[in-house]
Amino acid sequence: MKITFYFTHDYDKTYFDANNQTHQIQYVPVALTEETARLAQGSAAICAFVNDKLDETVIRILSEIGVRLIAMRSAGYNNVDLQAAKRYGLTVVRVPAYSPHAVAEHTLALILTLNRKTHKAYNRVRDGNFSLDRLLGFDLYGKSVGVVGTGRIGSVFCRIMLGLGCHVLAYDIQPNPDLADTKVQYTTLPDLFQNADILSLHCPLNESTHYLINPHNLSLMKKGAMLINTSRGGLIDTKAVIKALKTGHLGSLGLDVYEQEDKLFFRDFSDTAIKDEMILRLMSFPNVLITAHQAFFTHEAMTEIAKTTLQNISDFEKGLPLKNAIL
Ligand code: NAI
Repeated sequence: MKITFYFTHDYDKTYFDANNQTHQIQYVPVALTEETARLAQGSAAICAFVNDKLDETVIRILSEIGVRLIAMRSAGYNNVDLQAAKRYGLTVVRVPAYSPHAVAEHTLALILTLNRKTHKAYNRVRDGNFSLDRLLGFDLYGKSVGVVGTGRIGSVFCRIMLGLGCHVLAYDIQPNPDLADTKVQYTTLPDLFQNADILSLHCPLNESTHYLINPHNLSLMKKGAMLINTSRGGLIDTKAVIKALKTGHLGSLGLDVYEQEDKLFFRDFSDTAIKDEMILRLMSFPNVLITAHQAFFTHEAMTEIAKTTLQNISDFEKGLPLKNAIL
């Protein structure tokens, strides 16, 4: 099947070429938008990622030029207008689980780096500065960690934090039975906000979770707590979080995702003026650590993403049941 693969980076090509035997892939470097959708002319499938735009207009254009399958090479699909895809008769598949460990482990990396300031120590020591001033952290052992969303990633993260001796509180609209034999304690959302020393978000972005972190919920949080988001940027009202950082109510912030990341992430702006004022403000805080949506980025996850995406496309081509269909 001919596939147009949007927003290609060298690492995508490496993993998809290594795992592809049957499909003809047209790699394009640009993101999928209204302006670029017609590049898929002649392809029956397109492959898209988290910041590609799959709104009604784009989906209409794709259907007009004969695309029948949208193969997301991601777990999240909040950027796809599923109702529009249904109306225009396009099938949507995704990669529901490629490596929950990759994301959960990166979450821990953010926590440990923010807490023990290894990023600062690294630069300091290289600069011949061996002082310990302002590097003070806290023991994770015995602290309360609040986890919102205990699905594939959240449940792995819970187990990691239990392994470190943390007290794990969790909230999910559907508690995970796999955690029943653990010390994870399900509670209400307000209780979670009030008691967590570290709060980590692992739920999907949808209408009910948009701006879950808002002025009210931030005010419930313990003074000095750490907030971590490796899920989706829209879970956090960034302006409210900036305010809470300014007053010192929020102790520290670790982000792998950002509300307006679609215009920034996966691109190099190192010799350009960044126009996004909010991210610049966030970057100016000494207690904020941002990575650019790299939590998934491990060898194991990239291999699994390529294999599952190509399998989804082959199954669609052969008319087989689609176990990873969203629609
Ligand atoms: P999952 O579907 O296995 O788990 C999500 C959990 O959130 C489920 O248990 C669900 O019941 C729960 N949930 C849904 N609505 C909720 C609500 N209103 N309040 C509390 N819990 C709610 O998904 P998975 O694989 O664990 O992924 C979680 C999220 O992580 C994805 O939606 C995606 O946005 C993000 N992600 C980020 C990556 C990165 O590289 N930073 C990579 C992969 C996923």
